Amino acid sequence: MGKDTFYITTPIYYVNDKPHIGHAYTTILADVLARYHRLLGEPTHFLTGTDEHGQKVQQAAKKNGVTPQEHCDATVVRFLELWKRLDITNDDFIRTTEPRHKTIVQAILQDLYDRGLIYQGSYKGWYCVPCERFFTEKDLVDGCCPDCHRPVEELEERSYSFRMSQYQQQLIDYIEAHPGFIMPETRYNETLGFLRKGPLGDLCISRPKSRLNWGIELPFDKDYVTYVWFDALVNYISAVGYRANDAEFSKWWPASYHLIGKDILTTHSVYWPTMLMAMGVPLPETIFAHGWWLVGGAKMSKSLHNVINPMDMIDTYGVDAFRYYLMAAMSLGQDADFTELLFATRYNADLANSLGNLASRVVTMVTKNLDGITPPAAVANEQNQELMDKCLKAAAAMSKAVRTMTLDLGLATVMEAVREGNRYFDQMAPWKLAKEGRIDDLKQVLRNAMECLRITSGLLYPAMPGKMGLLRRALGMSEEQVVPHIETLSVWNQLEEGAKLGELGILFQKVDLKPLVEADKKMREEADRLEAAAKKAAEAEMARQETPCELITIDQVQKVCLKTAEVIAAEAVPKSKKLLRLQLRLGEETRQIVSGIAEHYKPEELVGKTIVVVYNLKPATLCGVESQGMLLAASAGTELRLVTLDGPLPSGAVVG
Ligand code: MSP
Repeated sequence: MGKDTFYITTPIYYVNDKPHIGHAYTTILADVLARYHRLLGEPTHFLTGTDEHGQKVQQAAKKNGVTPQEHCDATVVRFLELWKRLDITNDDFIRTTEPRHKTIVQAILQDLYDRGLIYQGSYKGWYCVPCERFFTEKDLVDGCCPDCHRPVEELEERSYSFRMSQYQQQLIDYIEAHPGFIMPETRYNETLGFLRKGPLGDLCISRPKSRLNWGIELPFDKDYVTYVWFDALVNYISAVGYRANDAEFSKWWPASYHLIGKDILTTHSVYWPTMLMAMGVPLPETIFAHGWWLVGGAKMSKSLHNVINPMDMIDTYGVDAFRYYLMAAMSLGQDADFTELLFATRYNADLANSLGNLASRVVTMVTKNLDGITPPAAVANEQNQELMDKCLKAAAAMSKAVRTMTLDLGLATVMEAVREGNRYFDQMAPWKLAKEGRIDDLKQVLRNAMECLRITSGLLYPAMPGKMGLLRRALGMSEEQVVPHIETLSVWNQLEEGAKLGELGILFQKVDLKPLVEADKKMREEADRLEAAAKKAAEAEMARQETPCELITIDQVQKVCLKTAEVIAAEAVPKSKKLLRLQLRLGEETRQIVSGIAEHYKPEELVGKTIVVVYNLKPATLCGVESQGMLLAASAGTELRLVTLDGPLPSGAVVG
């Protein structure tokens, strides 16, 4: 505290991911807050970036036949382009593969190693490949990864660890003394609960290069790279000059806010502070964990086909409406629901029918009846008191909302002021005044309505810079005033008398909700269907696992002939969602097998794989296609993996 600069960060996003609404949300939130603080005149620094090391990047690059760096360079563009389209005003974009980051990570590692805070030991744990995280036995849920619920594998290896355990009490004390350090309160309590639960372990920070080489090499052991969090978290300080530019670093650090999603709370509220304590660096002011966007109440996932692509929303509704909705519809800290129908319903209510409508009515009437010239300042009276009060209240509420991270509430009061503007307009019926020739009264009414738009457009500017800029220009404001000065938003009568109004097309085109209602119904039905299918599969799996296997004799085992087979072609079986037709080579012989794995593998992923098949199974016909045998696969819950060999062997080899 006490620092007069504002430094805000987003998580650095996995470069491999296709940006979705979750990524867009945190970045827009950071942008809106950064823009408000700039309007307040505070020196502001807004950092975002990409997390580019790790197994997934290494694997994806290999699959595409490029180097990991080439893969990152190609995929980072998706984020850069999205931020451009979303009007994001980040001051910096850090990539963890940049030398400015890598050198700092290495300097920190060396320093901690020299001071005995990093040591070599061995690490044994349960590893989740997709999450790239080790878990202890007690972290696992039903034997699976507690985060993604996929199977984990047990691994033991030599590794380096950071003495995180040493800082447990210091961190508890710090959190207790700084109630605003972790927000909202639920996350504050969650972190303290976690820390008080039992002894905090040390943190494994390395991976042997034999298993993962796409990472930052440990400066004191060339056979290892540093592992995800010790690399990624450091971005928040490497980007602002830690150990490289003291003036820059002390200008921005400690960060005012690290914005994160609730899933990466522990890494930020426990790992990161203990790392900083070890480095002797002050802790960030606030770690703020927001909730998740759900879709129709369900988690977004590729398998549910419900991932929202921000680009589609921007193409249909425009960037400003999308930014506004994300800010207005989520109470910070809680989960919120996103569906196109919810979005469009609110879009119509708030933007098209309230704000857009008032703007169009006011600009049209001033243009038609007052030659497009801003009328003189109006005198306060009984009729416009309510309007003035609501607008000034909105200004106060918005400034409080920014301080307390309740943007949805702030925006709601701004919309109330806009609605009051429409009510005032209806009540004063300026068209009647024009008809009756009561020009002075007409001027007063239009001026008041213009003031309402000036204030509300100013308050909405950080959320909708494009459209609010348009509106403010149309209200006759000079370029200098288009970006609002915060102090002018809590004072009435600030427009310049005599200024010429500009053109205002349709600010927000109304949306026809009918097709969306239909699509929404279908989406929910499909989600229910998929959920029911997943539940059924999980139940069947449970039942299968619970059924004791009947003992059989070796003779019975020997009756089954298993052989290796190479997949030489694969295609979908027409009219079937589940079946694939595989052409297999077994030595000299070729065979065709039909298998229900289409929801787990794309045909092209299978070609070239050596799998195991039951060779002496009687042929059967599935969906009109003959299947000469059966392939072996393992399944758990909704996951399925083929049985393959752990090294090369010719096809047709006997398994047994
Ligand atoms: N690379 C790490 C972060 C390292 S920060 C030092 C990472 N990246 S991520 O790309 O997987 O996720 C970034 C953020 O997106 C997380 O904060 C996560 O909470 C957020 N979201 C992912 N899906 C989300 C929703 N459906 N809704 C809102 N945000 C969610 O984790």
